[in-house]
Amino acid sequence: MTKETILEVRKQFEEALNRAKDPASLEKVKHEFLGRKGKVAGLFSMMGDIPPESRKEMGKMLNKLKDDLSEAVALRSEAFASGKERAKRIDYSLPGYAVHRGSQHPLTRAVDDMLSIFERLGFDIAYGPEVETDWYNFESLNFPPNHPARDMQDTFYTEGGGVLRTHTSPVQTRYMSSHEPPVRIVAPGRVYRNEAISARSYCLFHQIEGLYVDENITFADLKGTIELFCRLYYGKDVKIRFRGSYFPFTEPSAEIDVSCFLCGGKGCPVCKQTGWLEIMGCGMVDPNVLKAVGYDHEKYSGYAFGLGVERMVMMRLGIHDIRILFENDVEFLRQF
Ligand code: PHE
Repeated sequence: MTKETILEVRKQFEEALNRAKDPASLEKVKHEFLGRKGKVAGLFSMMGDIPPESRKEMGKMLNKLKDDLSEAVALRSEAFASGKERAKRIDYSLPGYAVHRGSQHPLTRAVDDMLSIFERLGFDIAYGPEVETDWYNFESLNFPPNHPARDMQDTFYTEGGGVLRTHTSPVQTRYMSSHEPPVRIVAPGRVYRNEAISARSYCLFHQIEGLYVDENITFADLKGTIELFCRLYYGKDVKIRFRGSYFPFTEPSAEIDVSCFLCGGKGCPVCKQTGWLEIMGCGMVDPNVLKAVGYDHEKYSGYAFGLGVERMVMMRLGIHDIRILFENDVEFLRQF
């Protein structure tokens, strides 16, 4: 027996241990190397032939071999045991934890869908501030000095003399003040009104404003665009109708109804048996508005519209209380 013989046995053991993938084959390896008639015992039995001067060193090496192998077997055996324990504790038949993916708020989705339709029709997107000046929110839009909409009842005023915009129409005059015609924009955003909060009205809601000013823009352009928008948003069978109305900043003015998407116009609770749903106000931009922003009102004309996003979403989803759109109740939001 030489040192090489001992190293060789160590090598054989390591290979055998690597191949032992379960407790039974580990037991065999243990028997083969550490058993009473195993390879290590065989080496010990050869100690008698070792010359006395190297007996001490060889003895040390052999003892170390035996200790190392025993320890390796014990470690592996423990690893098997704890793996089995863990496997016993896990019940693979239990259902997993539900993973909730975040989703877009229905209002965000509706605004995005509508904006992408208007973008396809050639509109740019513009934004304005939510705290406005009186001039942009009212004056520039041809509100007479004592118009009831300026009343404290409807408008939130800020301490510095600003107003929380009551509609997105001030984006019209803001945009025109800094851009030469032609302009073709849609402006989405929040608006605020100091109204009693109820199932139908909230102090905050969303509008999308539209404005197209160029030479020779007519009411027919407005009609065509809105009709196309409604068909793209509600489907090709939708019908629309214009009802005369009044806004200080448009002349003539109208309100637009779409045929009820639920009953197709036959009459149902959503359309209150009328077959129609009101979706927006619109009209031809009043010459006074063009004058206020320094446009030549003889040369240019245009149309504007403003649609209420919450109304459309509520009709779409069959929601009867506007407040649920602002409560961030996850039970509600997870449905989308
Ligand atoms: N700003 C109006 C409102 O809030 C809607 C509107 C916009 C009407 C543009 C005509 C033109 O009721």
